[in-house]
Amino acid sequence: MFTVAVLISGTGSNLRALLEAATDPEFPARVVVVGADREADGLLHAERFGIPSFVVPWRGAAERAEWGEELHRQLQVWQPDLVVLSGLMRLLPPDVVAAWSPRLINTHPAYLPEFPGAHAVRDAIAAGATRTGASVIVVDDGVDTGPILAQERIAVVAGDDEHLLHERIKPVERRLLIDVVRRIATGELQLAPTV
Ligand code: GRF
Repeated sequence: MFTVAVLISGTGSNLRALLEAATDPEFPARVVVVGADREADGLLHAERFGIPSFVVPWRGAAERAEWGEELHRQLQVWQPDLVVLSGLMRLLPPDVVAAWSPRLINTHPAYLPEFPGAHAVRDAIAAGATRTGASVIVVDDGVDTGPILAQERIAVVAGDDEHLLHERIKPVERRLLIDVVRRIATGELQLAPTV
């Protein structure tokens, strides 16, 4: 069975969707472990689905390298075929990216290369964009610069604020993520080296 590790920082709604998809016996991948950089709310989803989890607490940018090493060690225990960053709000150190990429993918709440970075939804609104989107990419050593695996447009509508728009983007992110994981697991989508 094709195995997936998911790394989160937040509520883990994308994680939950992937866990639900993976309960279908026809789905070709299984989540084997969930990791987080804090006691994230989303870890509860792992618990509910009986999936092991770990936390490597973020201690600050000065300790990014040590944090990354520990994260890498934890992942290695599980030997996942794919690592999904699903709302992990930290940049991985380059050697961790090099160790896992291209088997390292990220979901992003914008139509990359538009609005990279941690505040993509806020930035789209601030720019007065009439449309934004959702993307799933391979992680390389830049910030949201890796090869795009799937993306879809979403309109920005009158009255949207960051929260409302993000809530409309997330269901699209979930659908794209599940489809990308499925296609990677079946071999329909081949991941080319990035670093
Ligand atoms: C998603 O929009 C993800 O792309 C972004 O943070 C959000 C995570 O949401 N980086 P959740 O934790 O899966 O609910």
